[in-house]
Amino acid sequence: MLKKPNILFIGAGRMAEAIFSGLKQSDTIGKITISNQSDQTRLTHLKETYNVETGIWQEVISTHDVVILAMPPAAHPNVLKELSSKVTDHFVITVAAGIGPSILEASLPGVPTAWIMPNTAADIGESMSLFACGSEVKEEHREVLQTILDAIGESEELSEEQIHDLTAVTGSAPAFVYQFAEALEKSAQSYGLSSEVARKLVMQMIFGSASMLKDGRKAGDLRDQVTTPGGATAAGLDVLENAEFSQLLHKAVLAVNHKASEQAK
Ligand SMILES: NC(=O)c1ccc[n+]([C@@H]2O[C@H](COP(=O)([O-])OP(=O)(O)OC[C@H]3O[C@@H](n4cnc5c(N)ncnc54)[C@H](OP(=O)(O)O)[C@@H]3O)[C@@H](O)[C@H]2O)c1
Repeated sequence: MLKKPNILFIGAGRMAEAIFSGLKQSDTIGKITISNQSDQTRLTHLKETYNVETGIWQEVISTHDVVILAMPPAAHPNVLKELSSKVTDHFVITVAAGIGPSILEASLPGVPTAWIMPNTAADIGESMSLFACGSEVKEEHREVLQTILDAIGESEELSEEQIHDLTAVTGSAPAFVYQFAEALEKSAQSYGLSSEVARKLVMQMIFGSASMLKDGRKAGDLRDQVTTPGGATAAGLDVLENAEFSQLLHKAVLAVNHKASEQAK
């Protein structure tokens, strides 16, 4: 792998944009080229906005070191088939849901591969990304992989199997948080607040709470700090726990995984 690897994106949608917009800040990356299926207008817009190169991936792949597959999972079988006759010493990474290194390696034997599962906060450089490496990945590949991961937020290496299970927590649970936020906003509005003010209250409350967690404090300790035994907050928590809030969240995680494994079949 070169000191400053050239990176080719196949797929130039939201996730690709989140990654290369972050990568443009890095001085350890060479040129970035983006490609897609057909939307030329978007490629032109991205080229003008981020000063990246554009091209037809099949024609430019030989001048790149890393290929990032940022197209839908369903597009992978055909692209991987085509890719198999074009890769030489490339490092191939996918960000697609459900496409782990074992799938990549089955199509690209002997090729170093990795799987990144980001979440939507990649858009603002705050993703909690999970990743797994294929068996051919060496230290030099890990370095460039980490640069890519750092461009979109925080990351954690897990096994492929764990990523299948834990994407429910990092990828789907943001929707649980937004559901929670929306419900609290409605509750605030029931006391006569406008939707804008209700939104501000809830947004900053969640942001502050998340920042305290990020500060390294444990969720249970923070909860206990807010909760006087037998007090008003405790009364609210009792309602949540009487409705089996914790078990409910675990059930939601299980439901995500059940559905995802059904879809994978
Ligand atoms: N967005 C997220 O928050 C998120 C989170 C985790 C994982 N992901 C994964 O990231 C991948 C991309 O998601 P996205 O949200 O960026 O999707 P998106 O905005 O819909 O973009 C998809 C891109 O893939 C291109 N594409 C589709 N088929 C192609 C093909 N056969 N060859 C080359 N390019 C092709 C599309 O090109 P055209 O527009 O020209 O058709 C488009 O540029 C997906 O696999 C998804 O599972 C996304």
